Amino acid sequence: MSESTLDNLLHENRTFPPSPEFAAQANVTAAAFDEAAADRLAFWDKQAQLLDWGQPWTQTLDWSNAPFAKWFVDGTLNVSLNCVDRHVDSGNGDKVAIHFEGEPGDTRTITYRDLQTEVSKAANALTELGVTADERVTIYMPMIPEAVFAMLACARLGAMHSVVFGGFSADALRSRIEDAHSRFVITADGGFRRGAPAALKPAVDEATAELDYVEKIVVVKRTNQEVEWTDRDVWWHELVDAASAEHTPELFDAEQPLFLLYTSGTTGSPKGIKHTSGGYLTQCLYTFNAVFDYKPDDVYWCTADIGWVTGHSYVVYGPLAAGATVVLYEGTPDSPHKGRWWELIEKYQVSILYTAPTAIRTFAKWGREIPEQFDLSSLRMLGSVGEPINPEAWMWYRHVIGGDRCPIVDTWWQTETGAAMISPLPGVTACKPGSAMRPLPGINVEIVNDAGEALEWGQGGYLAIAEPWPSMLRGIWGDDERFIDTYWSRWPGIYFAGDGAKYEDDGTIWLLGRVDDVMNVSGHRISTTEVESALVSYDGVAEAAVVGADDETSGQAIVGFVILEGTTEVTPSLVDDLRTHVSHEIGPIAKPKRIMIVDELPKTRSGKIMRRLLRDVAENRTLGDTTTLADPAVMALIRTGMDEASDED
Ligand code: WTA
Repeated sequence: MSESTLDNLLHENRTFPPSPEFAAQANVTAAAFDEAAADRLAFWDKQAQLLDWGQPWTQTLDWSNAPFAKWFVDGTLNVSLNCVDRHVDSGNGDKVAIHFEGEPGDTRTITYRDLQTEVSKAANALTELGVTADERVTIYMPMIPEAVFAMLACARLGAMHSVVFGGFSADALRSRIEDAHSRFVITADGGFRRGAPAALKPAVDEATAELDYVEKIVVVKRTNQEVEWTDRDVWWHELVDAASAEHTPELFDAEQPLFLLYTSGTTGSPKGIKHTSGGYLTQCLYTFNAVFDYKPDDVYWCTADIGWVTGHSYVVYGPLAAGATVVLYEGTPDSPHKGRWWELIEKYQVSILYTAPTAIRTFAKWGREIPEQFDLSSLRMLGSVGEPINPEAWMWYRHVIGGDRCPIVDTWWQTETGAAMISPLPGVTACKPGSAMRPLPGINVEIVNDAGEALEWGQGGYLAIAEPWPSMLRGIWGDDERFIDTYWSRWPGIYFAGDGAKYEDDGTIWLLGRVDDVMNVSGHRISTTEVESALVSYDGVAEAAVVGADDETSGQAIVGFVILEGTTEVTPSLVDDLRTHVSHEIGPIAKPKRIMIVDELPKTRSGKIMRRLLRDVAENRTLGDTTTLADPAVMALIRTGMDEASDED
């Protein structure tokens, strides 16, 4: 597509209705909206029946103790049985569950029968170690099949997993293990990234060195790197190979906790978002079928890491509950060459691709010549998640990757919502490039004003969810008060999502990014406070303020403003040292793109840092209203600092 065609398309504000062929075979029709509107709970009842239950539920939703919801009250099920065994029992044991591709090019084909064997063995092995129901098992692993086995084995035992992204530092890992008080950690010696082994075990050793209650560390051998070994370490292969392949799963209550997943909030430490079993799996399965229009012959690839919620709901639980064939890829998109993803799509005949706008923008920058060298004709559906997708990236995705024939579903949701909430339905919704369009059937999203009043079409405000939904978070681990404060205290009974949004005149929803101090960098949630704390923990730093500035590739880029203590020497490497320090404290994803050393920070008279003004500076814009500044001269100083600061990376 030439630049001018793209401009025209954007300018025309075009909509893309489903093709008649696609609409004719789609899983979901417009009737779903009417059905859910007529009786929302009956609608979710019906979706839950697509899972295998032991005892049926007696009540669909108990909201009497709001905001602590119970879905499918008294129902019993086993999540792992629903994702594994039932597909074997229904005659699909030989169907491929996972096509694994390691970064070096090694592969594994895992059928549902194999999955049953592996998960059963892992469950028996974990039981032998002492893992029981209600335990919190921390998983810190690369994208390898054992990570999926470990998650499903925990689920099978009724133990919660807490997956920590492998890119997080030892410090970040420790705080998560501590918060969950995990007695067990599952990890690997390392994983392959960018053509070389990257270590994981040393970070676990560092994180757990002083945590006496960590009883066992199970280690998968993936890279053959040397690892330090103590009595509490045990090799996965030695433990699991020796275990029995027979395991009868116990049925648990629908509200049995399934996992914790830590995510960044506005203040303080990351919070452990708690999800439970029946409602979560119901919405994962429903949305997987509805949003991706999943058909049994599809080969589905979600590129998210299992360390994020997308990896939980749409690499593991949704697709496996549906009995789908998924692709699992270990490495980076540019290893050993920049066409690796497209090569994988051609190789595995991927028909559904689900990825993030930041990846699409990166590929667009690398040039269409790269994907054009591969046969992408197997693709029939494309998805996007993690941040607002800009119309240019949407059009590029549609045209270059989707050959103008694949619908794009831009799915809005959060770690807290558990599963997709706002998204086009590919057989029903006419899409507009850059919009997530409408709430899904059975989901009551509103855009509200400061007072929590629902706004009319044509207006903008805060995104809110007005009624409980099956896969909603059930709390924050160990902190009910924070759960209520963060999400439910602005407007009673209404969930505050933290995103700005606006309605177009026809009711189309446009997401406008976070309204709190959470940044979205390459689709990853990072709190300004966390990065500020990391900066301040560097010797010689007196104060720091951090903002997310618009960035062409990563959506937002982290920009730090740092005040040094009077005696600190400004060495040529100081800015780089500070960036490396943050990377070490939190992880490379939190490394600031730019840091400016300044003399003062703009503050209100009550002492609050005015991040809005810092964002103006970081984005090189004319300053907004400065009348509430305690000292307006500060901004001139920062501008000067800005001119001197050079762009990093
Ligand atoms: C943002 C990721 C616009 C949003 C599943 C949300 C999006 C945060 C979209 C949650 C989208 C996610 N359009 N913004 N399609 N998807 N977001 O918890 O700001 O990692 O609040 O969950 O990402 O990020 P989280």
